[in-house]
Amino acid sequence: MKVDVLLGLQWGDEGKGKVVDVLTPKYDVVARFQGGPNAGHTLEFEGQKYVLRSIPSGIFQGDKVNIIGNGVVLDPALFKAEAEALEASGHNLKDRLHISKKAHLILPTHRILDQAYEAAKGDAKVGTTGKGIGPTYTDKVSRNGVRVGDILCDFKQKYESAKAKHERTLESLNYKYDLTELEQAWLEGIEYLKQFKFVDSEHEINNLLIQGKSILCEGAQGTMLDIDFGSYPFVTSSNTVCAGACTGLGVAPNKIGEVYGIFKAYCTRVGSGPFPTELFDKTGDEICTLGHEFGSVTGRKRRCGWIDLVALKYSIMINGVTKLIMMKSDVLDGFETIRACVAYNVNGEEIDYFPYDINEKVEPVYVDIPGWQTDMTKMQSEDEFPEEFNAYLSFLEEQLGVEIKIVSVGPDREQTIERYTEE
Ligand code: GDP
Ligand code: IMO
Ligand code: MG
Repeated sequence: MKVDVLLGLQWGDEGKGKVVDVLTPKYDVVARFQGGPNAGHTLEFEGQKYVLRSIPSGIFQGDKVNIIGNGVVLDPALFKAEAEALEASGHNLKDRLHISKKAHLILPTHRILDQAYEAAKGDAKVGTTGKGIGPTYTDKVSRNGVRVGDILCDFKQKYESAKAKHERTLESLNYKYDLTELEQAWLEGIEYLKQFKFVDSEHEINNLLIQGKSILCEGAQGTMLDIDFGSYPFVTSSNTVCAGACTGLGVAPNKIGEVYGIFKAYCTRVGSGPFPTELFDKTGDEICTLGHEFGSVTGRKRRCGWIDLVALKYSIMINGVTKLIMMKSDVLDGFETIRACVAYNVNGEEIDYFPYDINEKVEPVYVDIPGWQTDMTKMQSEDEFPEEFNAYLSFLEEQLGVEIKIVSVGPDREQTIERYTEE
């Protein structure tokens, strides 16, 4: 067996949580491979809405095993709050949520360092989620991190030593902070975490594959936020791309099966950084309002713009996407004309590839497409799609070179349409 990977192709918030939940019945196991509580994955079903941050989105469908892989960074305090809320709503997690011993812990001082570094950057700040993601991955790479497995051995000494290093850095930055409450909640989180099964997830996953079990790997953030291929330095600190599933779970490259790439029918971005198709006008506001584009973690207003096919093609190339999934098409239901960026104009020269430097000199070149002007939110099958919508899908498939297999027409689990095009 091989694993399938599902990941975002834009700047995050494409709707990964919703689709993982929809696809979960087809799989035995769902595994998160990178990121941490910077993620906010929203699911809606039976009139309820849930936002998941560290827990994989396969947790609601039956009794499937969900794994938090080694590539994830975990904040025990936030994990406790998230897991307890789910347990209170009747979802039992303890037996079927497994956590990699190699996942790194986000310390309270990592969160403070995140804020301190952002404050020090002033106008050049990344606009992080403030969850300590960057400092935790920095410690991982510089070999100073504390891992979940350390909870079982010499934990106090490892924690105190890491904390002391962070405190020295904070002192050198002259950053004022109060650790007391954060630390107390965090230590309670550590105790809570001990009730879960800590695993060697690379062994678990490879053994499951040998047993013929099917596994869906859930990405967080999006390709344009990838530490290597995103709009650096305005990125997150992990590999959000498909290769991240290999390093974040211990899956060999030849064990990757389908790669589901998710994108919105338009584009959003939260935080700082370049965004060539960003709209600053009434249309941008309209997309924001219709799409309820506010961050599920921070509540920040998401920046909105037209779909960027140059960036999407780049993402598809980097990830080896085999199936596309288009989300939030209903948000464009009322538009007379829809625009798609097919090239960039850079200093008078038109280019159709994603360049090294995306700055304010990059101007999008648009193609205008007639809108479908039909309420699609109650549609059940592709047979009901309006002609203009089918034309839009064909245009995108032709430009992107990959078939769009699923179309989402609303936030609810039920508002998902699979397309039965020939394989
Ligand atoms: P994720 O981080 O990729 O899981 O995405 P988020 O949950 O942060 O953001 C996606 C938002 O869009 C959530 O509020 C979803 O409930 C919502 N959503 C997902 N799919 C659709 C859709 O097809 N139409 C509409 N209108 N909303 C959707
Ligand atoms: P999901 O999984 C959208 C953005 C932040 C910031 C940058 C770095 O819900 O799609 P970080 O806290 O990771 O150091 O912030 O990345 N960012 C996201 N944007 N969706 C996310 O996750 C994000 N996670 C991080 O806004 O610009
Ligand atoms: Mg999100």
